[in-house]
Amino acid sequence: MSFHVAPTAYDRFMGRYSRPLAVEFADWLGVSPGERALDVGSGPGALTEVLADRLGAASVVAVDPSEPFVGAIRDRLPGVTAIQASAEYLPLDDESFDIVAAQLVVQFMTDPLAGVAELRRVTRAGGVVALNVWDFEGARSPLSAFLSVLKGLEPDTDDETDRTGARRGQLGALLREAGCRDVEESELSVIVTSPTFEDWWDPYTLGVGPAGSQLAALDAERRNEVRTRCRELLGDGPIDTVATAWAARGVR
Ligand SMILES: C[S@@+](CC[C@H](N)C(=O)[O-])C[C@H]1O[C@@H](n2cnc3c(N)ncnc32)[C@H](O)[C@@H]1O
Repeated sequence: MSFHVAPTAYDRFMGRYSRPLAVEFADWLGVSPGERALDVGSGPGALTEVLADRLGAASVVAVDPSEPFVGAIRDRLPGVTAIQASAEYLPLDDESFDIVAAQLVVQFMTDPLAGVAELRRVTRAGGVVALNVWDFEGARSPLSAFLSVLKGLEPDTDDETDRTGARRGQLGALLREAGCRDVEESELSVIVTSPTFEDWWDPYTLGVGPAGSQLAALDAERRNEVRTRCRELLGDGPIDTVATAWAARGVR
């Protein structure tokens, strides 16, 4: 699995974008004290941390299939309950949360509809199920510049545009199909500055996620070619990465 990696590698690769996205997401959801929340596909805890800050650690449960990420949540966020599981099979009771959120996860689910139906099952009546996924289709993901260079050199590259949730309207449709009502959709944007090209590039070499594992699969000469083309495209830095995610929420 491309997420069976060191949590610190994930932090550098995607956490740099998903931490500020988590703040935008929680603001959009209006997370407020007294609520109980579940973070599905928590990774090492970008959204979990925001939820724990706003609700108290004891009111937050995090689920992820990656053992190192579950371990990171236990180390970093004592008081949060961390469970190793997948969205499609949540070992949790029906209707046990006010908010169930999956940030940047639907595109990795084996069966997105089954996964979102599970998210709805564990949400109380009147509670909220919420999803977000980067806009890969519109090339507005934080990985889009890298993926366009990689695809230019390696046409078979998975640039994530065909993954569920990566296109406008897909997340809302998925929530409706899973049985949610009063579905609302939005876009959430973050801006992250990498001081130098190396700061921007190095995390791609850590083998994280589809982008990192596809780079790792190339030989050294080809990897260097990707790096050179990225540098030609982006310059020496600072590099401002503006990234936008589709977001959708629905009521159980
Ligand atoms: C891009 S990361 C997002 C992590 C975190 N939510 C964040 O915002 O940084 C995708 C996460 O989804 C998890 N994942 C992959 N397949 C999953 C599934 N079927 N159910 C739940 N989580 C899954 C991965 O282990 C990984 O932690």
